[in-house]
Amino acid sequence: MTKVAIWCRHEGDNIIGIGSEIPWHIKSDFQRFRRITTGQNVVAGQSTYESFPNRTLPDRNIYILSFETDYQVTDPEHHFVVNDVNFFKDFDQDIYVSGGASIYKLFMTGGPKLMPDIVVDCVYKGQINPNLKGQEVNITPCIDVLNEKYTQIAPDFDLDNITTRVMVRKGEFVEQSVLKRIIQAITNI
Ligand SMILES: NC(=O)c1ccc[n+]([C@@H]2O[C@H](COP(=O)([O-])OP(=O)(O)OC[C@H]3O[C@@H](n4cnc5c(N)ncnc54)[C@H](OP(=O)(O)O)[C@@H]3O)[C@@H](O)[C@H]2O)c1
Repeated sequence: MTKVAIWCRHEGDNIIGIGSEIPWHIKSDFQRFRRITTGQNVVAGQSTYESFPNRTLPDRNIYILSFETDYQVTDPEHHFVVNDVNFFKDFDQDIYVSGGASIYKLFMTGGPKLMPDIVVDCVYKGQINPNLKGQEVNITPCIDVLNEKYTQIAPDFDLDNITTRVMVRKGEFVEQSVLKRIIQAITNI
């Protein structure tokens, strides 16, 4: 089944967060994420899960990666704790890897069975919120893999200072229906 990663990074430095927060607030970025992931299985690290409003995402299943075996979720019917990323190697459904940095890295550098088939690479070209305190979180190791192992499949899509590129793994089969749905979700604004 298809593995998709979706992120929004800052142009140049590949920052995706400061402390626990995303250092920009672009409504269309959240809307694009919602359109792409609604009805799907989202995979998130525990820190990113905790940052979702009310620790949930409506109309989606969330698989939370945590080393804690008894980690408590808010909606046990739709939220599932996973302690070992290898669980996803032979997972029989599509997944949408949604951060944070440690989880993107696990998938992007985790070998052929974890590496996403599709990456939705959103690049924010505006200013980072200068008032946030905390450590800069970047995904440069993932972008190195992206540049080496992926190729762009659809034209750049520009909106609100964010360029979105849909990337697929070089030389690998990609499920066309998934690709089509993602491109529609990006362009149908
Ligand atoms: N711009 C974007 O597109 C975007 C998207 C998402 C997040 N973000 C940003 O990314 C930052 C958070 O990233 P992060 O790397 O600090 O945190 P994270 O990836 O969201 O979560 C880290 C947690 O995931 C769990 N984990 C990590 N590796 C694991 C493994 N191999 N097996 C099982 N569990 C594992 C651990 O949870 P336990 O501690 O419970 O064991 C770890 O503390 C924030 O700034 C957030 O705003 C940005």
